[in-house]
Amino acid sequence: MSSHIHPEFHRFLSRHDKETLLGQKGLVVWMCGLSGSGKSTISNAAERVLHQQGRFTIILDGDNLRTGLNANLGFSDQDRLENIRRISETAKVLASNGVITFVSAITPRGELRDLARGILGDDFFEVYVKASFEACEKRDVKGLYAKAAKGEIPNFTGRDSSFEPPVSPQLVLDTEQLTIEDAAFELLEAIRSQLHLADS
Ligand code: ADX
Repeated sequence: MSSHIHPEFHRFLSRHDKETLLGQKGLVVWMCGLSGSGKSTISNAAERVLHQQGRFTIILDGDNLRTGLNANLGFSDQDRLENIRRISETAKVLASNGVITFVSAITPRGELRDLARGILGDDFFEVYVKASFEACEKRDVKGLYAKAAKGEIPNFTGRDSSFEPPVSPQLVLDTEQLTIEDAAFELLEAIRSQLHLADS
């Protein structure tokens, strides 16, 4: 099958063309962590600041994508792998067109983060949004932890499906210690230094 496919990347406008137009460099800020750890909230806060500063950004959110692109996937190990593969490939298209892309997805195992890193290469910027299972269970913003405790959600991350904390993420945001504002501020500093953006 693949021998009949003829990619045409070289004929299209280059990454440099897109980045020059946007006046920024593409990057994938990969936010991983337990459900309820604060991934989407921090991404949202950081994205709004960058947007206000004239940066072009997109958030690829695990829950949101599971209503569309990934609607046919569940939470088995195999489906999570496919979920992360699709998110990574989507993020790759965006970053290689100059977009500062936030991914907010649990990405529970090292194997999944290695897959994303392999697809994204130097564009992969790994952020661990750290909060214990107990803290997330206490917050239980979506009511999922209570349902999981009653056995209503199979393969729930941290309960009957494993979560392996990242070994050497570029940034750790401990949301049991930091406010959302402080976490977003730290994240923005890290993104600025990674992209060599001037403060604005
Ligand atoms: S991932 O493991 O494949 O990266 P993803 O981030 O896309 O997960 O989706 C996680 C979201 O799906 C959670 O934030 C939660 O709202 C919802 N969800 C539903 N079922 C589960 C489950 N079994 N485990 C974890 N999250 C679940």
